[in-house]
Amino acid sequence: MVNRSSSELTLCLLLFTALCLEAFIIELKVNSPAERMNWTEARLYCQKNHVDLAAGNNVNILDLSESFVENVGEAWVGLRRDPKNDSAWRWIYPKAGEQLSGEDLSQSVFWADGQQSSHCAHVDTDFKWHSVRCSSKRKFSCTEENAIKHHQNSVDWYTASDSCREKKNYSYLATITMDNTKKLKAGDWIGLYRKAGETWSWIGDQQTDYRNWAQGEPSYADCGSFDPVNQKYHSKACSEEFPFLCFDDNLVVVNENKTWEDALKHCREMQSPCENETSPCIYKHDLLSLELLYEYKYVRDRIYRATTDEVWTSLRFLGGRWWWSNGEQLENQMMLPDCPSEWKHCGTLSKHDTNNWITRNCLERRNFICYRYKADILGV
Ligand SMILES: *[C@@H]1O[C@H](CO)[C@@H](O)[C@H](O)[C@H]1NC(C)=O
Ligand SMILES: *[C@@H]1O[C@H](CO)[C@@H](O)[C@H](O)[C@H]1NC(C)=O
Ligand SMILES: *[C@@H]1O[C@H](CO)[C@@H](O)[C@H](O)[C@H]1NC(C)=O
Ligand SMILES: *[C@@H]1O[C@H](CO)[C@@H](O)[C@H](O)[C@H]1NC(C)=O
Ligand SMILES: *[C@@H]1O[C@H](CO)[C@@H](O)[C@H](O)[C@H]1NC(C)=O
Repeated sequence: MVNRSSSELTLCLLLFTALCLEAFIIELKVNSPAERMNWTEARLYCQKNHVDLAAGNNVNILDLSESFVENVGEAWVGLRRDPKNDSAWRWIYPKAGEQLSGEDLSQSVFWADGQQSSHCAHVDTDFKWHSVRCSSKRKFSCTEENAIKHHQNSVDWYTASDSCREKKNYSYLATITMDNTKKLKAGDWIGLYRKAGETWSWIGDQQTDYRNWAQGEPSYADCGSFDPVNQKYHSKACSEEFPFLCFDDNLVVVNENKTWEDALKHCREMQSPCENETSPCIYKHDLLSLELLYEYKYVRDRIYRATTDEVWTSLRFLGGRWWWSNGEQLENQMMLPDCPSEWKHCGTLSKHDTNNWITRNCLERRNFICYRYKADILGV
């Protein structure tokens, strides 16, 4: 008994040390590491060093500052062709790594012209083929009466195709076979194209299985970049290397298994220097107090990499009420038992969608989640 009341006294002191903190609000920030990587590597890098690749469903990438934009240029963002449906593009879902989420963005007005849907092929100096977006401008080759004819005007693929049709009946943007491949001019459009969701095919009547792709081609351009200068999305081959945008927040999921009290202590001992703040300051941490329920879903998705199903929050039953460690009471006390069974006096949040706090024995050990706040350098 003596033990217990003295531990409650410690807890009271612990709780009240942080009494004057304001309500926790999630702060998201975009940053661009000074490296170029392919999309896959870029995402892994962001997941390891930040939260994830920046995506329109977590941060406002359309609203980045001009100086940031000029520094970074076109960069990978968390946008991908849906592997389950070739015509759809979706944002990545920070929860559960690979998964995509949300609505189809393929019709979004933020795509650069002709970007998201089709791909067209042109030949290069070595007679090898490359896939590019159909809206780029190139000279072109038509098949006219079984001969290849080169045309000098630079147009997009569709215009080239129409213009071959106008020259002669049975004339199409060039269909290439083993026999005529050497007759092509480097850079020319050929009649090979791919609509979203379909395979590559020739535009004319003459279909052939002959393929002469350059190494690494055809690029199916399954990954999305954002060009902050024209504020548009672009589809790019995932293997291309670009700068990229990651995002950070002010949460830290700690993958160590600790009792509630040790978790609280751990968070409160974490410090990091402030970056780019005008007055000297330091970042401190506390076990998460989540008074604003609209942040609940973000946090629940954010803990997916915890190694335990539940993580400690700062919810604590003390003196007949439920408190957050920042000194605020749980707004809706009804959500939790007003007389919790003995020892189930601490609150967790579950990775799985229980949509509620769970009460647990404070002596159980599990992962926990801290949040960061700014304190001035004197420590207040
Ligand atoms: C694939 O996505 C497109 C565009 O959103 C949609 O029209 C089509 O119905 C989807 N197909 C399937 C099989 O879900
Ligand atoms: C193509 O054929 C149609 C009818 O067969 C003819 O009217 C037209 O003039 C022809 N066009 C060319 C470019 O030869
Ligand atoms: C991305 O780069 C890594 C390392 O260079 C490589 O192993 C991987 O195959 C690349 N992925 C793509 C899609 O190009
Ligand atoms: C924490 O506990 C979980 C579940 O019991 C376990 O899988 C994990 O390895 C533990 N983590 C550490 C760092 O001990
Ligand atoms: C802080 O400022 C420096 C120089 O102005 C910049 O390189 C760095 O990216 C900034 N850091 C953050 C986190 O904004």
